[in-house]
Amino acid sequence: MTDHLNTKRLHVITWGCQMNVYDSARMADVLAPIGYGPTEAPEAADMIILNTCHIRDRASEKVFSELGRLRVLKQAREAEGGRMILAVAGCVAQAEGKEILARAPYVDIVLGPQTYHRLPEMVALAARAGGAVIDTDFPTEQKFDFLPDEAAPQTPGGLSAFLTVQEGCDKFCSFCVVPYTRGAEASRKVASVLAEAKRMVAGGAREIALLGQNVNAYHGEGPDGSTWGLARLLYALADLGIPRLRYTTSHPRDMDDALIAAHRDLPALMPFLHLPVQSGSDRMLAAMNRKHKAADFMRIIERVREARPDMALSSDFIVGHPGETDADFADTMKLIREVGFALAYSFKYSARPGTPASGAPNQVADAVMDARLAELQAVLRQQQNDFNASCVGKTMDVLLTGHGRHPGQIAGRTPYLQPVHLQGDASVIGRIARVDISAAHPNSLSARLLDEPRLSASVSPLPTEEPACA
Ligand code: SAH
Ligand code: SF4
Ligand code: F3S
Repeated sequence: MTDHLNTKRLHVITWGCQMNVYDSARMADVLAPIGYGPTEAPEAADMIILNTCHIRDRASEKVFSELGRLRVLKQAREAEGGRMILAVAGCVAQAEGKEILARAPYVDIVLGPQTYHRLPEMVALAARAGGAVIDTDFPTEQKFDFLPDEAAPQTPGGLSAFLTVQEGCDKFCSFCVVPYTRGAEASRKVASVLAEAKRMVAGGAREIALLGQNVNAYHGEGPDGSTWGLARLLYALADLGIPRLRYTTSHPRDMDDALIAAHRDLPALMPFLHLPVQSGSDRMLAAMNRKHKAADFMRIIERVREARPDMALSSDFIVGHPGETDADFADTMKLIREVGFALAYSFKYSARPGTPASGAPNQVADAVMDARLAELQAVLRQQQNDFNASCVGKTMDVLLTGHGRHPGQIAGRTPYLQPVHLQGDASVIGRIARVDISAAHPNSLSARLLDEPRLSASVSPLPTEEPACA
């Protein structure tokens, strides 16, 4: 392994989705060969990257207010005769790069989500030019082909690692900025995914979550030149002996038979599916350009539950999309009650510049959205509480990921992504242990270690014999 001298300090601030978390780690990887090592302290950094999200509300105001704070640090450094490079990355940078440079001329680099493999050149240019560097291209080359290879140090992804396999989106939902900020849908080659998964496992990962804005639309080129779907990729990853696999975020339209079968066949594929539906009203689903109906979603849920009876479900909801009536909202509430979600994310519709819905004439009043959101969240919260409560007394395999907040406390995650706390020795961290769930709290569970934790990679995980909670 090549040894790099980390003489300069890099601080990365990450907002937004898991893909941004992954991208931040890769930006650190790309900068390591030119001497940047991580620091938690922004004031001590030689370079700060603000990795931004544009998905909802006042995204750019939030960026400018953070930049104002970072500017003070940069000026303090310059007053001491030093230098700090300030970079803005991610989806706001992609959408509003020029405006950032106009309003915050002290920013040195602006880069979009598809160009971070070029960061070393940008840093060199910024150092030389004295002026700002902007790179918000959608390059023809795939950044993944330019990320450091096995010889380079990998920013550790931890026991539970994210691995981006697919980027961008061609679905153009009426409300969403992602197709504009992340660009067209593109899948990474199978060989590149498998190589990175192996590195993650070698670095200690016990769980890998495959990421994509439309991860189940994955269609990567296989080693034999054929196209692989997500299911085939999951079988190949399971063959590597990775104990826990997940994928997120999926679109109902891409839940194909093979993927549903993978849930039946692969014990390593965790029985938890995040499948955003947004609305339970067919009228709204059409207005949102989701290209599926509520009944299609219900059918998928039924089939997924048939394939994996202990499956827990999660989703995203938007209330107040333009044109949403009380009847449409009632349809969403009906769908929620019919499915019963273990977890869900819900949002007030937020008009995003450049998206078709933002120009629609029939915008919903803010107070109406507030009321609908409160009603919907009360039911989702109750469902989450019920799900957590139904886990008490069950036995589960929990990935123990670190120390809890209290002395002697160990933290972990259930197959259903619930945070778990238990008393144990630090030596159990990193293991998948069988536990007994002893109590449920609003956002977490308490548990007791049952037997000797099962040792790592050599032991293939068994699905819990108990049915799902709930
Ligand atoms: N690719 C995923 C979602 C990506 S964005 C999918 O297709 O489902 C994550 C979530 O943010 C979305 O599911 C949606 O619920 C929410 N969201 C996106 N744009 C939004 C907007 N303009 N207003 C409110 N919520 C939004
Ligand atoms: Fe956005 Fe729709 Fe694409 Fe999801 S599928 S990223 S909501 S446009
Ligand atoms: Fe945000 Fe971009 Fe992710 S807009 S949600 S960081 S894809």
